[in-house]
Amino acid sequence: MNNNFTLAPRVFIETYGCQMNVNDSEVVLSILRGAGYGMCDSASDASLILINTCAIRDNAEQRILGRLDHYRLQKKGNPRLIVGVLGCMAERLKDKLLEHPAVDLVAGPDAYRDLPRLIASLTASGQKQINTLLSHEETYGDISPVRMDPDGVSAYISIMRGCNNVCSYCVVPYTRGAERSRDFESILREGREAIAAGYKELILLGQNVDSYRFGEVGFAQLMAMVAQLDPTVRVRFSTSHPKDIKDELLLTMAAYPNICKHIHLPVQSGSNAMLEKMRRRHSREWYLERIARIREIMPDCSITTDVIAGFSGETEADFEDTLDLFRQVKFDAAFMFQYSERPGTLAARHYPDDVPPQVKTERLNRIIALQNELSAESNRRDVGREFEVLVEGFSKRSTSDLMGRTSQNKACVFPAAGHHKGEYVTVRVLDSTPATLLCEAVD
Ligand code: SAH
Ligand code: SF4
Ligand code: F3S
Repeated sequence: MNNNFTLAPRVFIETYGCQMNVNDSEVVLSILRGAGYGMCDSASDASLILINTCAIRDNAEQRILGRLDHYRLQKKGNPRLIVGVLGCMAERLKDKLLEHPAVDLVAGPDAYRDLPRLIASLTASGQKQINTLLSHEETYGDISPVRMDPDGVSAYISIMRGCNNVCSYCVVPYTRGAERSRDFESILREGREAIAAGYKELILLGQNVDSYRFGEVGFAQLMAMVAQLDPTVRVRFSTSHPKDIKDELLLTMAAYPNICKHIHLPVQSGSNAMLEKMRRRHSREWYLERIARIREIMPDCSITTDVIAGFSGETEADFEDTLDLFRQVKFDAAFMFQYSERPGTLAARHYPDDVPPQVKTERLNRIIALQNELSAESNRRDVGREFEVLVEGFSKRSTSDLMGRTSQNKACVFPAAGHHKGEYVTVRVLDSTPATLLCEAVD
């Protein structure tokens, strides 16, 4: 009998970037749990710290380099601590990251099954380890993610990986590889598991969900199958691509009350010249036609977007086209970014990053100011209306108020009065701010 008491190794994982990265961290936790790792909530208790990184813009990477400097200090006090870098920055920078004194191992987005072996080799040899091979098949379809927020109401389900679009500014096709769709049976199994665990909302994730295809099953059919798992569980998805979003999907959304009436449809620019150079492969007119069709089929559907200010060669007139498109569409919300040139992309090779930083910042501020007005207007239109919200928890400001989201993904705050997380509550909107609907529960 072995009387030696050894503590199980413990992992702490820190996640940056998009929702898909959050879901990847959940896959990583599942793989490591299978290899005997326990989870911990704080880096100071961990024997293994993993940073799941994002490379989408330079400032995302700068932030992660700052974290690595921080962990370098922590390692001084604990030389046996292992620090690993995962995700898109790992894939982009590869062995260059191993030069950082804090980094012991580097694994790209398709190499997570190899983590137990990489860690064992590192421990046995003391040598830094790396695997950044990309795959055409890996979907982690058989792995049940260990949820980051076990008490949460929403569960992420990645339905595909990679991207085949090669928008000229974007690093994702290089960091995540070719597009591949996951077996719909494994998606449905994961959905059932999440529902059995008490989740009330399933969020299907992909860089371009409209191009999902597994055998005979396209995205609209997949949505219908997921929606049928449980009519009391909501279904959301992200991200749609304007060139690929089909009427069939819109009709499916309209047919199922539990499919949320919200579409995130990144436009990036309102100028045809910029769209062409960005290689989005659709025009401004096409985008506006898709918006009209969404509103025709689902008048109550909210529409949000992403936009980039100051892409290569963007003139004041091009930018005015973007402002004009925003005014025309009246987005409910938007994520707004300054262009950040990413090494190795088509744009970095062919289109010099020639808009001065101060012009980019000034344009970004103008679009933010416009969207604030549009968001405020969108929320004001809801005053007096009733919505069913799914309660996510207490509001940020007070524990006597709850926050729940409408089908349109708008945040509603209302007095708790006996209601609780995970419940559907009908609320009436009394007032609004650009970010929130201020409501009361309707009995
Ligand atoms: N697959 C999604 C977008 C994923 S990246 C789509 O095609 O819509 C999320 C957002 O980051 C993009 O929509 C874009 O607005 C922004 N983005 C991507 N690359 C960028 C770059 N180089 N500089 C600034 N913003 C960028
Ligand atoms: Fe990037 Fe374009 Fe793919 Fe979106 S669709 S991830 S912006 S290349
Ligand atoms: Fe960032 Fe990679 Fe997601 S670059 S936005 S973490 S796909």
